[in-house]
Amino acid sequence: MSSVVLDKVTKVYPGDHLAVDRMSLKAEDGEFLVLLGPSGCGKSTLLRMIAGLEEVTEGDLWLDGKLANHLPPRDRDVAMVFQSGALYPHRSVRGNIAFPLEIAKADPQFVKDRVTELSKALHIDETLNRRPGTLSGGQRQRVAMGRAIVRQPKIFLMDEPLSNLDAGMRTELRMEISALVRSLGVTTIYVTHDQVEALTLADRIAIMNRGVLQDVGTPAQIYNDPATAFVAAFLNSQQLNLLSATVRTPQNQFVMLDFGPHQLTLPWSDPRAYAISQYTGGQVLVGMRPDGLAPVPESYDGPSFFGRVRALEYHGHEWLAYVECGTPGVPVPEPPDPRRKTNGHAPESTGLGTMLRRMFTSRVLTEENEHDEEQESGHHRRTDLIVRLGVRPAWRVADAAKVAVDLSRIMVFTLEGARIDAARRTS
Ligand SMILES: Nc1ncnc2c1ncn2[C@@H]1O[C@H](COP(=O)(O)OP(=O)(O)O)[C@@H](O)[C@H]1O
Ligand SMILES: [Mg+2]
Repeated sequence: MSSVVLDKVTKVYPGDHLAVDRMSLKAEDGEFLVLLGPSGCGKSTLLRMIAGLEEVTEGDLWLDGKLANHLPPRDRDVAMVFQSGALYPHRSVRGNIAFPLEIAKADPQFVKDRVTELSKALHIDETLNRRPGTLSGGQRQRVAMGRAIVRQPKIFLMDEPLSNLDAGMRTELRMEISALVRSLGVTTIYVTHDQVEALTLADRIAIMNRGVLQDVGTPAQIYNDPATAFVAAFLNSQQLNLLSATVRTPQNQFVMLDFGPHQLTLPWSDPRAYAISQYTGGQVLVGMRPDGLAPVPESYDGPSFFGRVRALEYHGHEWLAYVECGTPGVPVPEPPDPRRKTNGHAPESTGLGTMLRRMFTSRVLTEENEHDEEQESGHHRRTDLIVRLGVRPAWRVADAAKVAVDLSRIMVFTLEGARIDAARRTS
């Protein structure tokens, strides 16, 4: 077992192509850490640097307390499984799993016992004498995993090992990976772009976007208390409602989030009020998950929005309502694209705020002429509030709709997408 420490690790590919930007992160001894992020955000690059398959451009990589930037891959005691584990086609399943031990000239009886034990844990003990070509995709990934961990590496790296499998197999193997890795207690870094895999497998999740670490914490911490608007949106199974609001503190009586036609107020006794009030007179982004909103009768006088139901959408286990509230949604702020820049390092914040403000202003201008919004094809939903209705819809299309807002679940961000109101975690 071993810990993995990244200290401001940066990867620049030839051609000034910044793939990982000053990542600092620690995987504890025996921890199951999931690296989550959209395609192209630098996950594989990071994993390959840990394995020694890719050089670290800047920063330090520590494995088991030793500086490992220049340690050859074979001295790292790291095993890696890829999206489609390449197996030796002419060797049996047994031969594939045993191979790393045979190379190491292990005792034949030990090899036999170890392969039997692992193949049982991976549910492939019936296939030991078959060739990889005769196996299903799920079985082949099990063999690849068996071969990777047969030597009991200190660190186990997995790069989207389930993404080539169909949904049923993915769920099954997901649970088995979790059980196996935990029973071995080996430090594991698992890469995926799938939020469900991340939430279900991880001890902790590190979420990346465009080469930049966005947040790290337990699944519940980053779901309930995300550090950025990007994290809140990425972990949402439905679309996150993200609206802009002006912060007001009328006569200093309370803190108001003013959405134009709608307002939400927080009393000073609310622990978030002070942090939000620092933006008085300025604009912030307010995130609301569809399940933090609920249909209520006209007479309801708690925190709410009002509008008209534009569409209902059936999702099997729930209905979603799209409620036109006359409040434009805003796109999720992203860090600047490092791939567009030409000099050494990504700017800390310059340019982005200005860019967002410009984007935001142009959306407000279109809203002044309500019909402009309709002409932006594909952007209709952006002006709707998405509300989760459960299994029986309380509304019909075109109904007037009052939407209760669970104030304990709103999230307030700067225009750049940094969280303002959270009781941020200390670790
Ligand atoms: N060998 C390479 N040379 C140049 N650019 C690369 C190389 N490998 C990956 N990249 C680029 O680096 C970025 C991160 O890639 P990658 O780490 O594969 O992302 P992910 O695994 O999250 O999809 C992408 O923009 C990708 O095109
Ligand atoms: Mg990848």
